[in-house]
Parts: sequence; C-alpha cells; structure tokens
Amino acid sequence: MAGPVLAIDQGTSGTKALVICPERGVIGSGSAPVRPRYGPGGAVETDPAALLASVVAAGRRALAASGSTVDAVGLANQGETVLAWDPDTGRPLTEAIVWQDRRAAGICAELVPRGEELRRLTGLPLDPYFAAPKMAWIRRERTREGVVTTSDAWLVHQLTGAFVTDAATAGRTQLLDLDRVAWSPDALDAYGLGDERLPAVTDAAGTFGTTGVFGGELPLTGLLVDQQAALLAQSASDPSVAKCTYGTGAFLLAGTGAAPRRSTGGLAGCVAWRLGGRTSYCLDGQVYTAASAVRWLTDLGVIAGAADLDPVGATVPDSGGVTFVPALAGLAAPWWRSDLRGAVTGLGLDTSAGHLVRALCEGIAAQVVELAAAVTADRGTPLSVLRVDGGLTRSALLMQTQADLLQRPVEVSALPDVTALGVGAVARMGADPALPLARAVPDWKPAAVYEPRIGPDEAAERLDVFRAAVRALLERS
Ligand code: G3P
Repeated sequence: MAGPVLAIDQGTSGTKALVICPERGVIGSGSAPVRPRYGPGGAVETDPAALLASVVAAGRRALAASGSTVDAVGLANQGETVLAWDPDTGRPLTEAIVWQDRRAAGICAELVPRGEELRRLTGLPLDPYFAAPKMAWIRRERTREGVVTTSDAWLVHQLTGAFVTDAATAGRTQLLDLDRVAWSPDALDAYGLGDERLPAVTDAAGTFGTTGVFGGELPLTGLLVDQQAALLAQSASDPSVAKCTYGTGAFLLAGTGAAPRRSTGGLAGCVAWRLGGRTSYCLDGQVYTAASAVRWLTDLGVIAGAADLDPVGATVPDSGGVTFVPALAGLAAPWWRSDLRGAVTGLGLDTSAGHLVRALCEGIAAQVVELAAAVTADRGTPLSVLRVDGGLTRSALLMQTQADLLQRPVEVSALPDVTALGVGAVARMGADPALPLARAVPDWKPAAVYEPRIGPDEAAERLDVFRAAVRALLERS
C-alpha cells in the first residue's frame, strides 16, 4: 500500500496543497496566492511562471508542515485556462488566458452556425469560457508558434517533461468527442486547430512521470480538473449527490454514470473522470463570479473582505428591495450569455452595505438554484441535498440563503480543500492500482448542515424577483 501523497490544487486565485496520509488524513497543508490581472474587453490573464511558482511553493509548504515524506503527487487544475508555449524548452509564449476571459466571444459568434453540431459532439455549448475558443483566439491574436494547451498540460510538462492532459480537462475544451473520449477532428477543424499538436488524453490515475521540484524524485500519479476532483471527493459515498464549490466562481456538478449525457436544461455534459480506462460522466453548471464578486465589493470598499459578509449582512434583516445579478463576467449555464454584465437594482438613499451584501448572497444562491433545477430536469430526480465546499462556505449568511432558496439541506464539508482531497484520491490510486475508489476517498463528513428556514412560497417569491431581474437584463441586451 502506498504511503502519504502530496495533493495540489492549482486554482484561479491561488494554489493549495495537502499532504494526505492513508491512516491519519491530512497531516500538512500549504498555499500560495496567484493574482490574475483584469483588463478591458473582458481580459483576465495570469503570468504562467506565477502559476508554476505557486504550485512549487504550496507543495513545499505542505511538505514542511507535515514533516513527512510522500510517495506520490497529484495535481488538480483550473479547467479552461490556456496558453501557448514552446514544447522544446517549455518557455511560455503568451500569458495564461484565464477561464473568466471573454475576449474569444467573437470566435464563438462566428461559430454559431456550427454550435449545435459542436454541442452534440462535445456536450458543451458555445461559450468563450471553454478552452477551444481561447486557443483559437491565441492563434489569431497572439502567436502561431509552439503548442497551445490548457494550463495543466504546461504545468505537467514543467514538472515531468510529459505532454498529457486528463480526459476531464480535455472535456473542458470543446475539442473532445464526448462518446469516444478522444480529440474530435471535426471540432478541431471548426476552430481552425486541425494542425495543432495536442497532449495525449490520459486517465486520472496513472504514472505520468517524475518530478524533483518537491525534493527527491516523486512520481506524478494523479491528474484531474478541479471541479471534477471536488465531485469525486464529495460523491464517492453517494453517486447521486450534487456538489457545489464556492470558489472564484461557483460550480455545481452532478454525476450521471457511465453514459455520456447531453443536457436538455442548458448545462454542460462532461467527462467526470476516466479511471482504469472507464469513463464516468457528469453535468456541470457554473456561476462565473462568486468569490470574485465578493472581491469586487471589497475593492469598491463596501466590505473589508469575505470575512465581512456575515457581520455586515447581519446589520439588516433583508436586502431592502435591492436585487443583484452578479454577472460580472457574464452569465453561464443555463443562459450562456458571456456578453451580459451584472446589474444592481432597487437602490435607495437608505441602501446600506448590509443590503448590498445580502443581495449579492441572494444573487449567487439564486443562480445555483437555477443550476440545480437544470440538473433535476436532466436527471429526472430532484436533489435530496447539496454538498458544498470552497472558501465562501464559511459565510453562514450565504449558506443559509442557499438552503432557503434551494429548499433543500446544504451540507458543508468538514474538510476544507475538497478538490485537493479528490486529486489526492486519484494520486493514491495511481500509486496503488489495486486501491478501489471508495477506499481512496476520505469519508464524507459535514461540518454543518443548513436546513431551509423559509417556506416554499417565500422561496419562490424571492426567486421570481431574481428571475425578473435576469429577464430584464436579457431583454435589454
Ligand atoms: O472552470 C473554472 C474552474 O476550474 C476554476 O476553479 O477553484 O479556480 O474557482 P477555481
């Protein structure tokens, strides 16, 4: 049996790392921040070197905190962030274009006539969120040199020299044939990427090479895109469960088993993971700005930071008639309107920071309810419970609002960094191929359960107000 593993979650706003011991659980953790830059036209970029440096720093900090050695490393990645790089030297040729970047909207607009064909092929709707539009944008606007890939392929190349991407990350591009789990020549052709050298599509658990950056030569044995890694950790004990991670954005995923699914409710139909050559699938819905909307309120000086949500929200009993559609980087599933921008309505001279905070929590929670409704429509069975993780789950105000509007219990993970737990599980399976998934994942333990405190009529009324605000935005544009 393999010993402890180092599980690394490379996210939009930072990298977190855990040392996970099979017997004792998490025995060390470390983190390192990353600062994306926001620019006009929906630009969101990060320095690739900063991504790599954060992976190395967070990993080393976790190892130092644990005082332990590890047998293997796992890496989770932000799904749709792309860059061009030189495959001989590994040198980046562009900035990393972050998943929230909207500059590939024009490329999506040109592809509208092929949108339905692409959705059938890949499970994904046309939207600049996914990787392929951004890859095509890099080719058109930045460079024709080198390879253009998702950030995981570059990071793994830096760490080990391998040129691979896991099937779930590949499934975030709109270039992967959802049924065959292989690059689709038709989708590549649609994006003008037919001549690209692409990474090999791998299982999530395996042996992908070795890295010396954490001290000694360690095998990299787990690779999985972040949201699917969180789903794996949260649904291993109950595959019918849906999870939502409240990070930079909020992402609701629900497993659908071994058959590929195209959503009829406006969600993305995706690969959840491929293990032992067998693919599991999921449905995926996104709120593009969750913690980044909180950061926006912070930058404006309304609150001092995410820790302020509860105390400032508690200064008022409700949102005082303020409605906030936090579409600061557009609306994703089920609307798919990357061009829309947020709206705050109902402001009065008596509007306070507390009202804005409550309206923001309500706006994030209401979008998650729309995603849960789409999952219910697609799967035909309502959610019994929502399992949640991520930094914003520390806000009791947001979590209670979520339970109220969803009319379902919301279970908050007792263990933070669920994404790292998920990729740690596949890293353990890669190091020990006999280990079954159910034993690789720690037991699900909620630290808190939020039950709805309002009735269905009040929830429906509050959701109607939010839906009317979204409709008004859609009609105005
Ligand atoms: O799809 C974007 C997602 O992978 C980013 O996750 O944790 O950086 O908000 P996070």
